[in-house]
Amino acid sequence: MARRKLIAGNWKMNGLRAAVAELDDVLDDAAGAACDLMLCPPATLVPVFASRAAGSPLVIGGQDCHARATGAHTGDIAAEMLADAGAKAVIVGHSERRADHGENDALVREKAEAAWRARLTAVICVGETEAERDAGRALEVVARSLAGSTPDTATAETTVIAYEPVWAIGSGRTPTLDEIAEMHAHIRAALREHLGEIQGIGVRVLYGGSVKPDNAAEILAVRGVDGALVGGASLKARDFLAIAGAV
Ligand code: G3P
Repeated sequence: MARRKLIAGNWKMNGLRAAVAELDDVLDDAAGAACDLMLCPPATLVPVFASRAAGSPLVIGGQDCHARATGAHTGDIAAEMLADAGAKAVIVGHSERRADHGENDALVREKAEAAWRARLTAVICVGETEAERDAGRALEVVARSLAGSTPDTATAETTVIAYEPVWAIGSGRTPTLDEIAEMHAHIRAALREHLGEIQGIGVRVLYGGSVKPDNAAEILAVRGVDGALVGGASLKARDFLAIAGAV
């Protein structure tokens, strides 16, 4: 089955209002892209990005949401608030949230369900640490995290999986192409088992971790890679568009 590729940018804690210039450059080229495009700026920029991107093929997403819709949770943002600000998607379970905020698979699953409740696509992140890979446990660790973080009712319309080896994030290092292919095949098999054939085949699985313009083409050509979740290289429109152009 042909899954349309998705290039998603995660700006993390980067970007002030002046960064809207980068967004505008992305929007200039978004209509011509041969893939789906998503940008997840910090929450402060979601409203302005979403209003500028309205009517374009570029989806604007948040980087995290709370599991509840309202309540006494100082500093947190509900999925409903992101949707109200114009977001159409949200990243949940990024390894930086797991490490910095102690988020576990059960909470990530609740956040994915919260995203759906607000009609947002959930981009669920999983990945192994370097120690886990060195110990030969990468496949097992990712399968367990995937099963714990992904609700059984996930569908191709509501959910995207991002495989991000923790040690590849921001490091300039990536797994070999064979290792990426092996992990994506493993994730696909697990999705088919958990979600059934139709949804298990339809859900897109992105690779994330040091994707740059100069390695995007080879990574995106790996069997089973349905796109990329890009951090640092998504901050500049030129680089983000170059990665999208490598599809
Ligand atoms: O979510 C994207 C990310 O963690 C990868 O970051 O900077 O290695 O592309 P980077």
